Amino acid sequence: MRVNAGLEGIVVADTEISHVNGEEGQLIYRGYDVKQLARKITYEQVVHLLWKGDLPQQKEEDSWTKIWKEAYELTEEWIEFLKIIPKEVDMLSSLRSILATLDEPASPPTMAQAIKFLVSVPMIIAARYRLLQDLSIVHPRKDLSFAANYLYMLRGEIPSTAHVQGLDAYLVLTAEHGFNASTFTARVVTSTESDLISAIIAAIGALKGKLHGGAPLEVADMLEEIREVNRAEKWMREKLENREKLMGFGHRVYKTMDPRAEALRDVVQKNAKNEPWFQFAVQTEQIALALLKEYKPHRQIYTNVEFYTAAILKAIRLPKELYVPTFAVSRTAGWIAHILEQANHNRIIRPSARYVGCKDKK
Ligand code: ACO
Repeated sequence: MRVNAGLEGIVVADTEISHVNGEEGQLIYRGYDVKQLARKITYEQVVHLLWKGDLPQQKEEDSWTKIWKEAYELTEEWIEFLKIIPKEVDMLSSLRSILATLDEPASPPTMAQAIKFLVSVPMIIAARYRLLQDLSIVHPRKDLSFAANYLYMLRGEIPSTAHVQGLDAYLVLTAEHGFNASTFTARVVTSTESDLISAIIAAIGALKGKLHGGAPLEVADMLEEIREVNRAEKWMREKLENREKLMGFGHRVYKTMDPRAEALRDVVQKNAKNEPWFQFAVQTEQIALALLKEYKPHRQIYTNVEFYTAAILKAIRLPKELYVPTFAVSRTAGWIAHILEQANHNRIIRPSARYVGCKDKK
């Protein structure tokens, strides 16, 4: 029996949602190359694409926007509940707790129910963030877009267009990514005919790990520790000598540069190219790539999305503790798309293991 550790290379289902082409460094959402979507469409439009199969046509825009506007409602019950969660409980654990109290949408959910659920994620995160800062809660505004509302609820002031565009590009580029660990988790839970909220909560658990959603935080810490470009080589050599990984590099599927990293680098370049830390990030990336070639010549290790996620989130002045939660905000769209697809073509997911333990204990 051959074991494929980490399920690497195992195809377990057909999907029409996205295509991750690791050899060519391409990511397609339902026919569209994501590099062409970033900065051209909003998160609301990408959700339409992922859930309904295509971008909204002109005539659908109004009704689609109306569903979103109607979804924004931060309830007093959530606020009261958020207040009793101890301060030391991390953001994703708080999010899981509140989501667990929501009414389960019908199965399959209507678009309005699914959007209501989706917008609850940034509302809960923003409210919890402000409570932890001893700031008053900011309720969402129905006249703002999803990205603008998130920043508004966090900051209590209307964000700049540059910040909204930067966040929207990030949300679009990270909304979906095939059978990654958290999405697969959501599909496994759905395959047992469990409910949507359980599937999302399980996915959040998978996203929390530093090898998945936690990486941008580690990238930010790494860049802060390196501090100056002339310290980068020594710092990274030491890590590689100790057989440690450089955060923001390597990917299970991409054997070339992650297309999302490339697209995000372009976005940051447009929004913040004159900022010294951006030049520092680009130079550090080049040094890392050269070292990875030297230390891991047998591997194809390139920049992944998390490296430039740290850069874009820094550019829009998002606090570091919100990096992973903001990834959960964007990826909820992909999780729901996969939950719907799994439910439509369901077979319980149940792989096997090779037993290597003792068989004859007496
Ligand atoms: N730095 C140094 N070496 C690396 C790195 C890295 N970032 N990534 C992989 N390698 C090396 C490993 O040391 C190993 O070397 P070996 O053959 O000499 O033992 C080899 O490449 C294979 O590594 P695995 O961890 O087995 O590769 P896998 O495909 O399982 O892992 C992963 C991919 C987890 C992303 C890995 O590259 C990694 O840990 N990177 C750093 C963390 C990171 O940036 N995560 C974000 C990923 S993107 C996302 O989740 C959206």
